[in-house]
Amino acid sequence: MDSINVTGGRALEGTIPIAGAKNACLTLMPATLLSEEPLTLTNAPRLSDIRTMSRLLASLGAEVSPLSDGLVLAMSSHALNGDRADYEIVRKMRASILVLGPLLARLGHAVVSLPGGCAIGARPVDLHLRALEAMGAKLDLRDGYVHAKAPAGGLRGGDVEFPLVSVGATENALMAATLARGTTRLRNAAQEPEIVDLARCLRAMGAQIAGEGTSEIEVQGVDRLHGATHRVVTDRIELGTYMLAPLIAGGEVTLGGGRRDLLEAFCERIEAAGAEVRQDATGLTVRRANGALRAVDVATEPFPGFPTDLQAQMMALLCTAEGKSVLEERIFENRFMHAPELVRMGACIDVQGGQATVTGVERLRGAPVMATDLRASVSLILAGLAAEGETTVSRVYHLDRGYEHVVAKLRGVGARIERVRAND
Ligand code: EPZ
Repeated sequence: MDSINVTGGRALEGTIPIAGAKNACLTLMPATLLSEEPLTLTNAPRLSDIRTMSRLLASLGAEVSPLSDGLVLAMSSHALNGDRADYEIVRKMRASILVLGPLLARLGHAVVSLPGGCAIGARPVDLHLRALEAMGAKLDLRDGYVHAKAPAGGLRGGDVEFPLVSVGATENALMAATLARGTTRLRNAAQEPEIVDLARCLRAMGAQIAGEGTSEIEVQGVDRLHGATHRVVTDRIELGTYMLAPLIAGGEVTLGGGRRDLLEAFCERIEAAGAEVRQDATGLTVRRANGALRAVDVATEPFPGFPTDLQAQMMALLCTAEGKSVLEERIFENRFMHAPELVRMGACIDVQGGQATVTGVERLRGAPVMATDLRASVSLILAGLAAEGETTVSRVYHLDRGYEHVVAKLRGVGARIERVRAND
């Protein structure tokens, strides 16, 4: 398995281009199942998760053709020949569950493997199933699969009240509702920018949706959806990750295409810690306002709150900030696995349940560390940029799921970083 070596101590200067959002693309791709006409996505990120979703859609009979070196995904679901999402694919990528709603809406039946847990938590899908049942679906859980059937006349509009905010369940319900007969209301819906992007794409396909980006979304079902071309929204998590690089290593970096409105709560926290963030037409430019960084408290919440997907990266920054910071992880039950690895680098972190207290140290020290999940792995690279000496991050396949060309992007602003190909 490949590893990445980072040698810290060098300030960063230059521009990092930000790709299209992985978590938008992973819900936009299953939307192709809702129409017999082609759906084309531009500004698609080139990531292993996108290739996995392509394989899943192809196994259902869809055609996915990456064009322009993968930046464009030309998809067509004219003739589907399957309704089954196998455990082999689903266990590798939880987002596979997002084919359930579209298959039910288009075909009236689907057999989708339950995703199982993952490193950061149990991550059940009960809210996805409850939403589809509210539209008349009959769901039978057996041998690790959801066997789903729509009523004879197809899904019907229904009222869905989510007891807690779920991005994926909102996405599944929103896609299914576009073809359900009648009106569907989603209450306590997720408000993430990726939901707004999905709604815009569905509307371009002829869906009738109102309220996306708020906690109440209303959908008037239509008989069919037509094709469309849609540009994937900028990846706010990649953006926030690289905004932290000049803060942790020093220097000034511009994030190409960066938009502050995608990350307001995150920007407020890093400014409280001592960052200067400037927005202009080219993107966001970030640097330390006056040298030292100050400790700040952070609590992760559904959008528009501080994103859980930036918690690990923020922890890396706070390891070298002056004072004591308290990070509270309110979304997932086990999302501090990066903490012991940062401690190996000399960080001072005390984890008690869903709360981590970080006491800033003068300098981190390079060390061999291990990536455990996508966002934890990039937090270790950020820490390596600030550490004295060399840090070797192993199991970087986690990184390839969510960060396109991370070595090239950081090298492009002066970081001393290289990927070591394993000969296994
Ligand atoms: C999406 O996951 C993202 N993934 C995650 O990003 C992100 O961390 C998460 O939203 C929260 O923002 C994609 O978009 C592909 P949820 P999702 O349903 O939809 C519980 C990354 O690093 N829950 O909003 O699975 C769940 O256990 C990934 O890019 C239920 O209890 O997240 C969690 O505690 C990691 N029942 C909370 O809700 C359900 O049916 C939020 O989960 C569904 C969720």
